[in-house]
Amino acid sequence: MPFLVLAATDDEVARINEPFLFLKTLKFLSMMKSIPEHIAIIMDGNGRWAKKRFLPRFMGHQKGVKMVKKIVSHCAELGVTSLTLFAFSTENWKRPQEEVSQLMRLFLSALQREVQKLNENNVQLKIIGDISKFDPEIIEHIQKAEAATAQNAGLKLNIAANYGGRWDIVQAVKAWQVAHPEESVEHLTEEALSQFVCLAEQPEPDLLIRTGGEQRISNFLIWQLAYTELYFTDTLWPNFDEKQLDLAIESFNQRERRFGKTSEQVQAENQAEQQGESSC
Ligand code: FPP
Repeated sequence: MPFLVLAATDDEVARINEPFLFLKTLKFLSMMKSIPEHIAIIMDGNGRWAKKRFLPRFMGHQKGVKMVKKIVSHCAELGVTSLTLFAFSTENWKRPQEEVSQLMRLFLSALQREVQKLNENNVQLKIIGDISKFDPEIIEHIQKAEAATAQNAGLKLNIAANYGGRWDIVQAVKAWQVAHPEESVEHLTEEALSQFVCLAEQPEPDLLIRTGGEQRISNFLIWQLAYTELYFTDTLWPNFDEKQLDLAIESFNQRERRFGKTSEQVQAENQAEQQGESSC
């Protein structure tokens, strides 16, 4: 008999929908050739989402945090191994002081509140960026949260905070020089430097998603995105739900990743791989 849920919190609705979402996810997985190992996201559009509703910008960021939680869970369900989110750029300090403070408070409360949930879901948290510029209280909570989740073997959740791609390259050159004090920079190679940029221990992103309609990289992971597939959507971040992520992955599945080779070479390699698999 049909029934009507008159009032429910987001968590209650999520619990009611859980079995249906699980089946939907299984169906989606069976339809996809491949799931990106590493997804990076520029979460844009919180302010516009709020403005459209005559709400203060801050409420857009609050709703943005809720979507972060949904997308983290969905990535874990799909078997994505790394998810990197651009939460605060080196340029975001230029925003009005009040908004910067609100973003800092949101970040701090998420760090305090979500560690237990991350552990329950086996998620390992890592913050990338120049965290020395943050309040000592935030730095302390970052370190605690990273340490508390360091042994988790599931999804690697990387939050880019006070991060800039150019900063990353400069810090990598400095770190290389410290590790090789005897060597001249003449000997520095791409391969050597790639071991010192942020996330060197994780695969480079397969898919970059930017929400909010703009089509640019905005100084995010500029080294690591060299061969990443780009997906831009007009959807504002607070509206970017599981279905929207599935659409981005569907688009990724339609791409041919050539890494500088010709299409014929890639197809021949794929065929050889399939034959190898079927002969085992
Ligand atoms: C861009 O929207 C969003 C940001 C600068 C901040 C992103 C932060 C969050 C989603 C919340 C904090 C995240 C974590 C992981 C705790 P915008 O303000 O530039 O939107 P607009 O372009 O519409 O103005």
